[in-house]
Amino acid sequence: MLLSITQYGNPVLRAVSAPVEHVDEAIHALAANMIETMYAANGVGLAAPQVGENIRLVVIDIPEDEDEEANPEEQMATINGELRNIREIMPLVFINPVIEPYGNQSLCTEGCLSVRNIRANVARPERVKATLPQLDGSVIEIDCGGLLARCLQHECDHLEGFLFTDRTSSAVKLTLAKKLKRLAKEG
Ligand code: NI
Repeated sequence: MLLSITQYGNPVLRAVSAPVEHVDEAIHALAANMIETMYAANGVGLAAPQVGENIRLVVIDIPEDEDEEANPEEQMATINGELRNIREIMPLVFINPVIEPYGNQSLCTEGCLSVRNIRANVARPERVKATLPQLDGSVIEIDCGGLLARCLQHECDHLEGFLFTDRTSSAVKLTLAKKLKRLAKEG
Protein backbone atom coordinates (compact mmCIF):
# COMPACT_ATOMS: atom_id res chain seq x y z
CA MET A 1 0.00 0.00 0.00
CA LEU A 2 1.33 3.40 -0.93
CA LEU A 3 1.58 5.83 1.96
CA SER A 4 1.43 9.58 1.62
CA ILE A 5 4.76 11.28 2.21
CA THR A 6 4.71 14.09 4.76
CA GLN A 7 6.00 17.36 3.41
CA TYR A 8 8.15 20.18 4.70
CA GLY A 9 6.26 22.24 7.26
CA ASN A 10 4.58 19.21 8.84
CA PRO A 11 5.59 19.12 12.55
CA VAL A 12 5.98 15.31 12.42
CA LEU A 13 9.23 15.92 10.50
CA ARG A 14 10.57 18.04 13.37
CA ALA A 15 9.84 15.74 16.30
CA VAL A 16 12.33 13.35 17.90
CA SER A 17 11.07 9.84 17.12
CA ALA A 18 10.54 7.18 19.78
CA PRO A 19 12.32 3.80 19.81
CA VAL A 20 10.44 0.81 18.43
CA GLU A 21 9.84 -1.34 21.54
CA HIS A 22 7.97 -4.30 20.05
CA VAL A 23 8.20 -5.53 16.49
CA ASP A 24 4.64 -6.61 15.82
CA GLU A 25 2.64 -7.16 12.66
CA ALA A 26 1.90 -3.47 12.39
CA ILE A 27 5.65 -2.68 12.24
CA HIS A 28 6.22 -5.34 9.56
CA ALA A 29 3.31 -3.95 7.54
CA LEU A 30 4.54 -0.39 7.95
CA ALA A 31 8.06 -1.35 6.79
CA ALA A 32 6.67 -3.15 3.72
CA ASN A 33 4.50 -0.16 2.85
CA MET A 34 7.43 2.21 3.34
CA ILE A 35 9.55 0.16 0.91
CA GLU A 36 6.75 0.22 -1.66
CA THR A 37 6.29 3.97 -1.16
CA MET A 38 10.04 4.62 -1.47
CA TYR A 39 10.25 2.67 -4.75
CA ALA A 40 7.18 4.42 -6.17
CA ALA A 41 8.77 7.79 -5.39
CA ASN A 42 12.18 6.74 -6.79
CA GLY A 43 13.82 7.40 -3.43
CA VAL A 44 16.82 5.60 -1.93
CA GLY A 45 15.66 5.94 1.67
CA LEU A 46 12.61 6.69 3.76
CA ALA A 47 12.26 7.24 7.51
CA ALA A 48 9.02 6.62 9.41
CA PRO A 49 8.40 10.32 10.21
CA GLN A 50 8.16 10.84 6.45
CA VAL A 51 5.02 8.72 6.45
CA GLY A 52 3.65 10.37 9.58
CA GLU A 53 4.98 7.98 12.24
CA ASN A 54 7.38 9.31 14.87
CA ILE A 55 9.13 6.00 15.45
CA ARG A 56 12.71 4.91 14.81
CA LEU A 57 12.17 2.82 11.68
CA VAL A 58 14.02 3.35 8.38
CA VAL A 59 14.09 1.66 4.97
CA ILE A 60 16.92 2.11 2.45
CA ASP A 61 17.66 0.70 -0.99
CA ILE A 62 20.82 1.86 -2.70
CA PRO A 63 20.69 0.73 -6.35
CA GLU A 64 23.62 -0.93 -8.06
CA ASP A 65 25.85 1.81 -9.42
CA GLU A 66 26.07 1.17 -13.15
CA ASP A 67 28.15 4.24 -13.82
CA GLU A 68 31.45 3.04 -15.31
CA GLU A 69 33.32 5.71 -13.41
CA ALA A 70 31.81 4.65 -10.13
CA ASN A 71 34.21 3.51 -7.47
CA PRO A 72 33.54 -0.23 -6.95
CA GLU A 73 34.87 0.06 -3.40
CA GLU A 74 31.84 2.17 -2.51
CA GLN A 75 29.62 -0.79 -3.34
CA MET A 76 31.44 -2.82 -0.66
CA ALA A 77 31.13 -2.57 3.09
CA THR A 78 32.22 -4.47 6.16
CA ILE A 79 29.03 -6.22 7.24
CA ASN A 80 29.22 -8.20 10.49
CA GLY A 81 32.98 -8.42 10.06
CA GLU A 82 33.03 -9.51 6.41
CA LEU A 83 33.67 -7.45 3.30
CA ARG A 84 30.50 -7.79 1.23
CA ASN A 85 28.59 -6.08 -1.54
CA ILE A 86 25.96 -3.80 -0.02
CA ARG A 87 23.40 -5.15 -2.55
CA GLU A 88 23.29 -8.31 -0.39
CA ILE A 89 21.51 -6.42 2.41
CA MET A 90 19.13 -4.37 0.24
CA PRO A 91 16.40 -3.43 0.79
CA LEU A 92 17.74 -2.55 4.22
CA VAL A 93 15.17 -2.21 7.01
CA PHE A 94 16.19 -1.32 10.55
CA ILE A 95 14.93 0.06 13.83
CA ASN A 96 16.61 2.01 16.62
CA PRO A 97 19.90 2.64 14.76
CA VAL A 98 23.10 3.75 16.43
CA ILE A 99 25.37 5.49 13.96
CA GLU A 100 28.85 6.89 14.22
CA PRO A 101 29.93 8.99 11.22
CA TYR A 102 33.69 9.40 10.84
CA GLY A 103 36.41 10.39 8.40
CA ASN A 104 36.83 13.38 6.13
CA GLN A 105 33.93 15.67 5.40
CA SER A 106 32.77 15.54 1.81
CA LEU A 107 30.30 17.72 -0.05
CA CYS A 108 27.49 16.01 -1.94
CA THR A 109 24.16 17.07 -3.41
CA GLU A 110 21.17 15.79 -1.46
CA GLY A 111 17.44 15.87 -1.89
CA CYS A 112 14.57 14.50 0.18
CA LEU A 113 11.13 13.12 -0.64
CA SER A 114 9.75 15.42 2.09
CA VAL A 115 11.36 18.57 0.66
CA ARG A 116 9.98 18.89 -2.85
CA ASN A 117 12.07 20.32 -5.67
CA ILE A 118 15.03 21.32 -3.55
CA ARG A 119 18.50 19.87 -3.88
CA ALA A 120 21.52 21.30 -2.09
CA ASN A 121 25.10 20.53 -1.17
CA VAL A 122 25.58 19.06 2.28
CA ALA A 123 28.92 18.36 3.97
CA ARG A 124 29.04 15.11 5.95
CA PRO A 125 31.71 12.64 7.07
CA GLU A 126 32.46 10.13 4.31
CA ARG A 127 32.15 7.00 6.43
CA VAL A 128 29.75 5.53 8.93
CA LYS A 129 29.92 2.75 11.48
CA ALA A 130 26.44 1.66 12.43
CA THR A 131 24.52 -0.86 14.51
CA LEU A 132 21.27 -1.61 12.71
CA PRO A 133 18.79 -3.86 14.57
CA GLN A 134 16.64 -5.86 12.15
CA LEU A 135 12.94 -6.67 12.45
CA ASP A 136 13.74 -10.36 13.09
CA GLY A 137 15.85 -9.52 16.15
CA SER A 138 19.24 -9.95 14.44
CA VAL A 139 21.65 -7.05 14.18
CA ILE A 140 23.69 -5.75 11.26
CA GLU A 141 26.98 -4.11 12.21
CA ILE A 142 28.23 -2.15 9.23
CA ASP A 143 31.19 0.02 8.31
CA CYS A 144 30.58 1.73 4.98
CA GLY A 145 31.29 4.70 2.75
CA GLY A 146 29.77 6.05 -0.44
CA LEU A 147 26.08 6.67 -0.94
CA LEU A 148 25.06 4.25 1.82
CA ALA A 149 27.08 6.20 4.42
CA ARG A 150 25.43 9.41 3.27
CA CYS A 151 21.97 7.89 3.18
CA LEU A 152 22.34 6.44 6.70
CA GLN A 153 23.23 9.88 8.02
CA HIS A 154 20.38 11.56 6.14
CA GLU A 155 17.76 9.02 7.28
CA CYS A 156 18.96 8.91 10.89
CA ASP A 157 18.73 12.72 10.93
CA HIS A 158 15.00 12.33 10.18
CA LEU A 159 14.64 10.36 13.43
CA GLU A 160 16.01 13.36 15.34
CA GLY A 161 13.79 15.87 13.55
CA PHE A 162 16.56 17.18 11.29
CA LEU A 163 16.32 17.74 7.55
CA PHE A 164 19.20 17.96 5.09
CA THR A 165 18.50 21.65 4.58
CA ASP A 166 19.49 22.21 8.25
CA ARG A 167 22.92 20.81 7.41
CA THR A 168 23.71 23.20 4.55
CA SER A 169 26.13 26.11 4.83
CA SER A 170 24.76 29.48 5.93
CA ALA A 171 25.23 30.77 2.36
CA VAL A 172 23.13 27.93 0.95
CA LYS A 173 20.53 28.45 3.71
CA LEU A 174 20.13 32.04 2.54
CA THR A 175 19.49 30.96 -1.04
CA LEU A 176 16.97 28.33 0.12
CA ALA A 177 15.08 30.51 2.61
CA LYS A 178 12.38 31.77 0.24
CA LYS A 179 11.72 28.36 -1.35
CA LEU A 180 11.46 26.72 2.07
CA LYS A 181 9.03 29.36 3.30
CA ARG A 182 6.85 28.66 0.28
CA LEU A 183 7.04 24.89 0.88
CA ALA A 184 6.08 25.33 4.54
CA LYS A 185 2.98 27.28 3.48
CA GLU A 186 1.96 24.54 1.03
CA GLY A 187 2.55 22.06 3.88
NI1 NI B 1 14.93 12.72 3.58
